Amino acid sequence: MSLVVRKMTVEDVPAAHAIDVSSFTLPWPERSFRFEVTDNPAARCWVVETDGRVVGMLVLWMIVDEAHIASLATHPEFRRQGIAKQLLVKALDNAYAEGARTAFLEVRASNEAARRMYQKFGFEEVGRRERYYKDNNEDAILMTLKRLPLAPIFRFLDWSEGG
Ligand SMILES: CC(C)(COP(=O)(O)OP(=O)(O)OC[C@H]1O[C@@H](n2cnc3c(N)ncnc32)[C@H](O)[C@@H]1OP(=O)(O)O)[C@@H](O)C(=O)NCCC(=O)NCCS
Repeated sequence: MSLVVRKMTVEDVPAAHAIDVSSFTLPWPERSFRFEVTDNPAARCWVVETDGRVVGMLVLWMIVDEAHIASLATHPEFRRQGIAKQLLVKALDNAYAEGARTAFLEVRASNEAARRMYQKFGFEEVGRRERYYKDNNEDAILMTLKRLPLAPIFRFLDWSEGG
């Protein structure tokens, strides 16, 4: 499967929103994606495409020297194929090139898959916001990657050994 990571355009917004809806219990409205792509100067929006189909999306906010991962999801039919890894590498490398030196995100406490993925990238758990998610009062875990750039090993994208 050949994957292309590229900037999200306004034409990609319906596909990005559809992935969001199929991935989160509190998805963003479509207009939020449109706003991020067209009107938010801090936003860096990425998609992954395969065979002309958008199968993953990531929204990052640049805040001075911090990169905030605002949203990241892979289409349910395309998970465990390295798509989120590629999005993270691209987005964090670009954020570093623009001056980011740390990265932050929030993740649901129950989201083992995402927490595991972020840990592999070197994110550490630094805090917890209690009852942060309004649909089920679940806590958010705050994770930080203290130092960018990513280590070169992430470009190889094969973590099958040593898990
Ligand atoms: C979390 C998510 C983005 C991962 O996307 P993906 O494209 O399947 O991820 P990748 O294939 O790049 O996997 C990266 C690593 O994450 C971890 N991982 C991903 N899915 C996992 C799962 N179901 N169980 C355990 N670990 C998992 C693994 O360590 C994996 O590396 P490996 O395949 O080499 O073992 C995807 O499951 C998703 O969209 N979930 C719903 C939305 C979401 O939770 N987003 C993050 C919110 S902060």
